[in-house]
Amino acid sequence: MKVEFIEKSQDKNLYQQVADRLRNLIVEGTLQPGDRLPSVRKLHQQLSVSISTVLEAYRLLEDQGLIGVRPQSGYFVKQPHLPPPEEPNQSALPEHNAPVKVSLAYRLGATKLDLNNINLGAAVPGVELLPIAALNRLMGQVIRSHAAVAHSYSSPKGCETLRHEVAKRLMDAGCSVNPEEIAITNGTAEAVYLSLQVVTKPGDVVAIESPSYYGLLEALGALHLKALELPTHPKEGISLEHLEAVLEKNQITACALVTNFSNPLGSCMSDVKKKQLMALLNQYDVPLIEDDIYGELYFQGTRPKAVKAFDTEGRVLYCASVSKTLSPGLRVGWAVPGRYQMQIEQLKMTINWATALPSQLTVAAFLNSGGYDRHLRHLRRAYQTQVEKMTQAICAYFPIETKVTRPQGGYVLWLELPNKFDSMILYEEALNHKISVAPGIMFSPSRKYRNCLRLNCGIPWTDDIDRAMQTLGYLIKQQLKGQILSI
Ligand SMILES: Cc1ncc(COP(=O)(O)O)c(C=O)c1O
Repeated sequence: MKVEFIEKSQDKNLYQQVADRLRNLIVEGTLQPGDRLPSVRKLHQQLSVSISTVLEAYRLLEDQGLIGVRPQSGYFVKQPHLPPPEEPNQSALPEHNAPVKVSLAYRLGATKLDLNNINLGAAVPGVELLPIAALNRLMGQVIRSHAAVAHSYSSPKGCETLRHEVAKRLMDAGCSVNPEEIAITNGTAEAVYLSLQVVTKPGDVVAIESPSYYGLLEALGALHLKALELPTHPKEGISLEHLEAVLEKNQITACALVTNFSNPLGSCMSDVKKKQLMALLNQYDVPLIEDDIYGELYFQGTRPKAVKAFDTEGRVLYCASVSKTLSPGLRVGWAVPGRYQMQIEQLKMTINWATALPSQLTVAAFLNSGGYDRHLRHLRRAYQTQVEKMTQAICAYFPIETKVTRPQGGYVLWLELPNKFDSMILYEEALNHKISVAPGIMFSPSRKYRNCLRLNCGIPWTDDIDRAMQTLGYLIKQQLKGQILSI
């Protein structure tokens, strides 16, 4: 086995670079458990580094539990995958319902636009993974072939061919929906915003997951709504017990949840739980705004159903988009608002009349082309690999006490660190190193989760990401040691 020569980076010790290269070979599976590593002498010659550098590198990998030494035989790969770190527990109830004030989200959005940053903050997919060339080609074609139509207003409901394609896809989520029941929106964000506006009035209380996607918190804040944070389990989602107690006391006007592979926890409610949730909402006549943006991004088995699949009374306002699968930039999403359909369409018309037709027609053409399922298979594998690599890096570089979620879909990880850790300090420190992360307080209106962090795994793994993870690990360890230093 030949280890390729290492570019000598200024800001890293040589032995760390040697260790990095070997660690990558182990994590990628090129070096398997039991494989023998090159002898110290051989690596010293191959890489033109000193014997002590190689020994230091091997010691570092030994300390990280990746390799072991056998007397008279040399170094061997111990385990390509470190034991998974502990998962966080179900979140606790906050003391009060919080009026929502958020502004960090706007800043985070700006950091992702700076291409010099390594974006581990905003949950955006890497463009390398999206079918950009096919979408561009299709957009050219649809604009040419529907020249007059593409430049006119769409109906507020959206173009029929797209609604037809969306209705077909929704069958996989267990929903039999007529295209007439679908309203096309500018992404999931608009579908959720319109839904909130239709079912609430200022001052109302909405039950949400805790932690919860900060875009939802922004929408609640803009509509002058209060959030009631429900305890949420990283695997199973919200506590129905708590929801029932809240419903009994008539404390909420609506529920807004990400039911499949939530952001940031990655939780996915079982069908049984989804049915129970639906029964509760029917019993107390409370609408659910269901954000299913990650539903198609499952790692194993089949697509999880939506709560909408169990909605016989039109109480669920289902929201989703192609932002995580095809293109966040096209701004194509949809709502299936059940009994609130007319109000949603009227509000959509008031706000911006309709979603841009070139975007709608392009997505319709892609969905109709037959390549979407193949693309999704590839994308799911890529996201899963990235989530695994990121978890491995956390094991290798972050403090041992770090707890990490193990999502079965989507592409974000939620990390919980010891209470004394402050993710806002890390956020600022990391930005100085051109790394963006999403600090925990963004995900709670009551500003819980200061010791937590969300990491985006939507971008294909590179050495730069590996280095960014090492830097984050270093900064966190320094902070926990009480020394907030710049490296
Ligand atoms: C849970 C969730 N909902 C909605 C959105 C926004 O989706 P869109 O770009 O389709 O508006 C995101 C984006 O990160 C998300 O994670």
